[in-house]
Amino acid sequence: MATLRFSAAARCAAKHRLLAPVLLLLLITSCAPPSTLPTDLRSTSSAPSRQPGGTPPATALTDPAVPTLRSLAQAKGRYVGAAVDPRPLLGEPLYAETLAREFNMVTPENALKFGRTQPSRDRYTFRDADAIVAFARANGMAVRGHTLVWHVVLPRWLTGGAFTREELLAILRAHIATVAGRYRGQIAAWDVVNEALGNDGSWRDTIWYKTIGPEYVDLAFRWAREADPQARLFYNDYDCEGLGSKSDAVYELVKGLRQRGVPIDGVGLHMHVRIDASPEPAEVAANLQRLAALGLEVHITEMDVRIDGAVTEGKLARQASIYKDMLRVCLAAENCRAFVLWGFTDRHSWIPSYFRGWGAALPFDEAYRPKPAYRALMEALSTP
Ligand code: XIL
Repeated sequence: MATLRFSAAARCAAKHRLLAPVLLLLLITSCAPPSTLPTDLRSTSSAPSRQPGGTPPATALTDPAVPTLRSLAQAKGRYVGAAVDPRPLLGEPLYAETLAREFNMVTPENALKFGRTQPSRDRYTFRDADAIVAFARANGMAVRGHTLVWHVVLPRWLTGGAFTREELLAILRAHIATVAGRYRGQIAAWDVVNEALGNDGSWRDTIWYKTIGPEYVDLAFRWAREADPQARLFYNDYDCEGLGSKSDAVYELVKGLRQRGVPIDGVGLHMHVRIDASPEPAEVAANLQRLAALGLEVHITEMDVRIDGAVTEGKLARQASIYKDMLRVCLAAENCRAFVLWGFTDRHSWIPSYFRGWGAALPFDEAYRPKPAYRALMEALSTP
């Protein structure tokens, strides 16, 4: 990855570093070429333009000499990323500034999901995804595409359509060709298939599995490769970070794909964990290693560390050490190329609405101030 070329978009971003990242969006058409991967891991990050409003954070934000997650990750030739939604991206300057300063990769949190891109049959909408991809390009960041095939966030026309196998195959093929094709050359990695396995490692009984059978996975990868030959193609799942029956099942699934010549490049490990239940670092290391032996890359794709009840210093310290342990394990593995968080600020996180009583899962607080977890990630990245 360290050999990726310094794209014209990144050069443009650097040239205009005195402008706020959001304003850089306006420069896209004049600056950026349409097709190169939008990051160069050897370049420095684009600096934010102005002192953010609100409570001053604990670290200097505007001095380019001050290291950031992004600058340290780039120096190591790795990606550090965050999931993003367009509303705060376009509406909150601090969100955009923090994102562009701290990360060299973004994942659209929802904008590329099936129900968002094809809400009506054969009628695609790309406004939100386009805004995120444009932001990434303007700020010299790479994009993880998430996700082409999942059983959640599906449109009603699809779930209620009672389609035959042949019809569903045609729908899936057209969807992948259209969505991956639209961003051809602009997506560093696609989560082609998300969460195909259940908690016990058996096939999840989704519309795709029930109607098509397990071959839907092979086909989705082949169609994704056709649509965007440059993108790295990933299988992505949760609760398979360490060792255990689900992790074994993911291993067997991707091993089978490799053996059949299916074009898969990597495995995404979600890493949605809790302060009182997180994987053993040694097990994660062993898992990364066995995936490396299959010739596969790994990305940590959706990390957050949720806290239950009142947030205390002790819980924040525990959270920080989990973030640090997981990042260290990733950095120690040559094949673990990206470390992506599911958001970055507690102001915008899926956790409180999906896990009642839990929250504060990310390294910046609701006012964009760095938490102990942020400092722990910086420490991990500062270690030679
Ligand atoms: C979640 C988003 O964060 C929410 O905003 C949305 O309502 C539902 O999906 N695993 C995944 C992600 O792969 O796509 C999910 O994202 C979180 C769990």
